[in-house]
Amino acid sequence: MAHEYAAPDTVALDDENGTLVIIDQTKLPGRVEFLSLRKQEDIHRAIRSLQVRGAPAIGVAAAIGAYLAALDIDTADYGEFHARFASALEYLASSRPTAVNLFWALDRMGRIVRRNDNLPVETIKSLLRDEAASIRDEDIRVCRAIGEHALGLIKNVRGVLTYCNAGRLATVRYGTALAPIYIGKEKGYSFKVYSCETRPLLQGARLTAFELNDAGIDVTVVCDNMASRVMKNGWVQAVLVGCDRVAANGDVCNKIGTSGVAVMAHHYGIPFYVCAPTSTIDMRTPDGSGIIIEERPASEVTDMWYRERMTPSGASVYNPAFDVSDAELITAIITEYGVARAPYRENLAKIFETRGRIETDKMGG
Ligand code: MRU
Repeated sequence: MAHEYAAPDTVALDDENGTLVIIDQTKLPGRVEFLSLRKQEDIHRAIRSLQVRGAPAIGVAAAIGAYLAALDIDTADYGEFHARFASALEYLASSRPTAVNLFWALDRMGRIVRRNDNLPVETIKSLLRDEAASIRDEDIRVCRAIGEHALGLIKNVRGVLTYCNAGRLATVRYGTALAPIYIGKEKGYSFKVYSCETRPLLQGARLTAFELNDAGIDVTVVCDNMASRVMKNGWVQAVLVGCDRVAANGDVCNKIGTSGVAVMAHHYGIPFYVCAPTSTIDMRTPDGSGIIIEERPASEVTDMWYRERMTPSGASVYNPAFDVSDAELITAIITEYGVARAPYRENLAKIFETRGRIETDKMGG
């Protein structure tokens, strides 16, 4: 399996064939299959069905999807191009509601079209390609930087617990929460990772275990209800998770079940670190109550992994895909621009100030 996978990028643009190339994550760990997608319905379905998933990877896939949509708009008229591109963006935005990276990436693509209304449509298409490529390249750089900052916090740690998959399969490369584990390995650290299986879609059991194992990192899968025992046993000294959206007050929305882990970590006095690219921090959402939580089909709970239905058909099922961990449970939020601690409203704003300064310097003043 290891050599079949050999860790290619999770999301890529194939310029020659004009397609979005993704690893089909619904087939992992059993089969490593790549999909080449061009049609908007297929890209929408791939995001909706979690063939590509994880907030940063969804953002990159959507940006490439938007560029491919532009290629298929056959007009030289700016007004018509703009209107058709706007509906393509709206369609892609309807694929999933929670991860802010999706809207952030589509917004960046939309801005390219609006800002360049004086240019020929063909030139705008090539600018859209450049923007999608920048979003992809930035993701790689950002994850690497998060990994470096996070490694600084866990240097003396041996056991790490993680939830869901915030690894390379959730980004283009490296991951967010797993980036320090990979970078640590490059630098000679050896962490022991406990991966909660993450009901109902098993991103921890299937994906985190797959990619860490593939990279030769010590990984132990535990059912979600075993996390407390692992913590009580003293086997982990840090929890590292990713996120789908961070509100301005530091409330963190991540895969359903994360908030339970945060409560347990708080109880046992174990640091709970959230790795978040600034593209995942949504300063326009004041707190976690404003985040739309995706609800998914009941069949994911009742049928998906079983030979026959596992709950009586008369019983109702509640299947929210995300939950919110309150800011006071979070030890630190690790971004590409450094580590923010409470009070988050103030300190996340400082992270954005740093980002603004660095971006202005890059533009030469
Ligand atoms: O439903 P998913 O698999 O897309 O949920 C993914 C998560 O919750 C991840 O932890 C989050 O997107 C961060 S990925 C770096």
